[in-house]
Amino acid sequence: MAADEIDLDTLPPGPRGPSALVAARFLLRGPHFLEACRDRYGDVFTIRLNTGRTVVIAGDPAIAKEVFQGSPDDLHAGAGNVVLKPILGAGSLLLLDGSEHLRQRRLMLPSFHGERMRAYGETMAEVAERHISRWPVGQSFPVHPTMQAITLEIILRTVFGVEDAAAVERMATPTKRLLNSTDQPLRLLSLQLTSSANARPRSPWGRVYALMAPVDALIHEQIAARRAALSDGAEHDDVLSLLLGARDEDGNALTDAELRDELMTLLLAGHETTATALAWTLERLVRTPRVLARAQEEVQAGESTDYLDAVIKEALRLRPVVPGVVRKLQRPLTINGIELPAGAHIAPSIYLIHRRADVYPEPDAFRPERFLGEDAPSTYEWLPFGGGIRRCIGASFAQYEMRIVLQEVLRRARLATTDAEDERVKRRFVTYTPARGGRAQVTELAPASAAVASVAA
Ligand code: HEM
Repeated sequence: MAADEIDLDTLPPGPRGPSALVAARFLLRGPHFLEACRDRYGDVFTIRLNTGRTVVIAGDPAIAKEVFQGSPDDLHAGAGNVVLKPILGAGSLLLLDGSEHLRQRRLMLPSFHGERMRAYGETMAEVAERHISRWPVGQSFPVHPTMQAITLEIILRTVFGVEDAAAVERMATPTKRLLNSTDQPLRLLSLQLTSSANARPRSPWGRVYALMAPVDALIHEQIAARRAALSDGAEHDDVLSLLLGARDEDGNALTDAELRDELMTLLLAGHETTATALAWTLERLVRTPRVLARAQEEVQAGESTDYLDAVIKEALRLRPVVPGVVRKLQRPLTINGIELPAGAHIAPSIYLIHRRADVYPEPDAFRPERFLGEDAPSTYEWLPFGGGIRRCIGASFAQYEMRIVLQEVLRRARLATTDAEDERVKRRFVTYTPARGGRAQVTELAPASAAVASVAA
């Protein structure tokens, strides 16, 4: 059944009106729209977008649990993420479903295992320290661009195996241009509302494709370079080298086309999300002096990371970077008592679940202590990385990277606190980012370590 044949009257009520208007409010007024719908219709409501999608949005952990535990044959994530296809490619892990998704996920998971992250810790710290040492002292500036530069360089070095500074720069510049092309809300809207198929050069998608071509070329160049290095017998621990050596149960490796789509996914999904999460964490910290002071004390004592890890979890709760996940039903299903037809989409709302007052008393307060006690939230109440068979494969990578970057910030920089208004949430492609880039002011900056100073010179 086509999505637009679905009878809305059989689904939980939600905002009505022209579907283009609903889509515009959903995309441009994200959090306000979600909260207004929740206040009016309750935890579960239905929207119809002019892309033909009928989406049941659920701010209920019980529904998230059923969706994440449900059969991947019934609930397709790839079909739900189709908006990412023109850039990531049909072979991206985010776009695949069924056995092909499982095959590629199995090939990729070992490279992202928690233990492996330690091997990347030194690179992460060195990159963070070098970028932070360029921060201005005594003036307010947005931290998001620094965080993007740090996380992009970390992905290029640890995932792509790019080694020297010139090569990092050569890949970073076109990647930033590609991402910035989806930055403006109206441009984003025009992308979501127009077809990417047969895009003319001056159409919204035509422009994105033109910016994608140089990134594609560099990815293929890097695949060839790592393959050549491997055949020389050199040992490398970057993710690309591990993927080149990975084999499925039938002994097959990933093809170059599959590798391209997975690398584009890791490049874009891996760095922008983490940079935004870091910017939000600092945006929250400078507005919460008590938490900033306690986190800084812990980092400077250097004995534990428990409080800092709780700060990261609380920031990911209060300002989730990815506001929700989507699954398309392949057959009629009853989820938590709600009957849903084939073709409908179900979207557990990370944003709304994280703001439930019954799970998080005073949900608007930034209070890392929630994650220190015994009654920490359950898997389906704290879900910034999604869940089940599609849970983010970079979750350990991202949290480890955030810990290391924040340690560098709190060790070196004294940050001024502020009573400025909270930054508005701005949508950037599929993420929620701080509208002013997470502005902060450094009052004192300790010098970089000698090793880093010499790299930066
Ligand atoms: C704070 C940072 C991050 C956040 C908030 C985040 C969030 C998410 C979410 C919510 C999903 C699930 C999507 C769904 O269920 O449809 C996901 C999937 C994914 N993420 Fe992340 N992510 C982050 C960092 C990363 C990093 C660092 C990488 C890799 C280097 C990465 C790679 C992926 C991939 C490949 C998937 C697809 C998994 C699958 O479909 O099997 N992410 N991410």
